[in-house]
Amino acid sequence: MTKLIGPKKINTAVFISGTGTNFKNLIKFSFSKNSPIIIKYVISNNSKAIGLNYAKKYKIKKKIFKFRSEKESKILNFLKINHIEFVCLAGFMKILSQNFISKFKGKIINIHPSLLPKYKGLNTHQRVIKNKEKFSGCTVHFVNSKLDSGKIILQKKVKIFKKDTADTLAKRILEQEHIIYPKAILKILANP
Ligand code: GRF
Repeated sequence: MTKLIGPKKINTAVFISGTGTNFKNLIKFSFSKNSPIIIKYVISNNSKAIGLNYAKKYKIKKKIFKFRSEKESKILNFLKINHIEFVCLAGFMKILSQNFISKFKGKIINIHPSLLPKYKGLNTHQRVIKNKEKFSGCTVHFVNSKLDSGKIILQKKVKIFKKDTADTLAKRILEQEHIIYPKAILKILANP
């Protein structure tokens, strides 16, 4: 019987620091037939990150690094020897150096809970509500040397209601994050 072998999937590492719902969502996506990625490692700066539980559940290898810039060569070497070709940041709270990012040029992406270029950085939901914005949303973008400033791959707009708190808005935006992150990956990596 002829075995059908699909195109080779791209070895991917997901970097997380916290709850890891985007990580979980990317794992599920990676298991789907049309996914161009296979998640080889989850990497975290935080050994207590709740999201690491998904690594255990879905049998993804995990690795903890302190992410001090002087030790980045160690991390880069680790990624190299494990043949990691693509990096997805998902709630990863450390800033990577220019050197690190240049090694993955065009191969490192992030998800941010605002309609970039508006509301870069932290506490986005609190700030959009305080500024009485009518819409917020989420953005998947390439990572470059400036915080939340790389080329935008995909965005989704989310309406803000009068009764919204930072928490209710975060929840609605997170649902959209889980939809657009896989779509953004398909957009840049899937074969035409
Ligand atoms: C998400 O809102 C993501 O956009 C931001 O941090 C949050 C992480 O959530 N960068 P989770 O850890 O994926 O649940």
